[in-house]
Amino acid sequence: MSATMMDGTGLARKVRAEWKGRAQLLAGNGNQPGLAVVIVGDDAASRVYVRNKARACSETGIYSEIHEFPENANQDEVIRRIQELNGSPRIHGVLVQLPLPRHFESAKVIASIAVEKDVDSFHLHNVGALLTGSTVFAPCTPLGVMKMLEAYGVEIEGRHAVVVGRSNIVGKPMALMLLQKGATVTICTSKTRDLAEHTSRADILVVATGKPRMITAGMVKSGATVIDVGINRMPGGKLAGDVDFDSVREKAGYITPVPGGVGPMTITMLLCNTIEAAERAQARSLAAK
Ligand code: GUN
Repeated sequence: MSATMMDGTGLARKVRAEWKGRAQLLAGNGNQPGLAVVIVGDDAASRVYVRNKARACSETGIYSEIHEFPENANQDEVIRRIQELNGSPRIHGVLVQLPLPRHFESAKVIASIAVEKDVDSFHLHNVGALLTGSTVFAPCTPLGVMKMLEAYGVEIEGRHAVVVGRSNIVGKPMALMLLQKGATVTICTSKTRDLAEHTSRADILVVATGKPRMITAGMVKSGATVIDVGINRMPGGKLAGDVDFDSVREKAGYITPVPGGVGPMTITMLLCNTIEAAERAQARSLAAK
């Protein structure tokens, strides 16, 4: 059996087209959605991510601003800028690109973002809200995974989901979102003893460890849905996921490719969250009239 490929690129295109219509409606009312991206220092990968976010905004009818600071910037100066953006009616989403330079306290900077503009969902309020199932915004990568599962009709309730990886931006929120939808959830890390024993019991397996091709066919239940969040640059330049795609696709029921799986959905969810933030701001301003 060969797995059905979950096409993140195609789904992202479809979702963006739908939401572009919503952005146009807002713009027609003089409320074009706006995203501000704050970047500090010169991390090469971060610069590429930020450029891609700005391009995706422009393609979707979202206004965007990039606020760049040098590596030796002062934390208070960055927080002051975030506070200005919090107050700007032109801006509905504020995102601080991570990692910040080592002399920054990331938690303090993230805490300065207004909760209703925290489209990355990194603010402690939004992290906590996820725990109680009452999110303001959900974090983009796990939200993108949930949309993919929904689009392909993968049942979650009552199923056993195994998440490998415990990062704050993927593994932990992913586990909570699957739990909220009624899955029985196991969280593993790359250090879990007898990892294969856990992964091979998963109906839904989500892998986000940053260890290229660590999940092999022998670790996967026949017919399982396998979601690969990893993007690893291999010697020679090729991209590989955390799942050994060529072997696992013969065993799984559904599988995401790398590239072209979860990746395109992540930025798409950022666009959706920004448009939703603008819709809420418009509703608030109408209610106040
Ligand atoms: N750095 C790596 N991934 C992300 C992300 O999704 N959002 C932000 N703000 N920074 C990141």
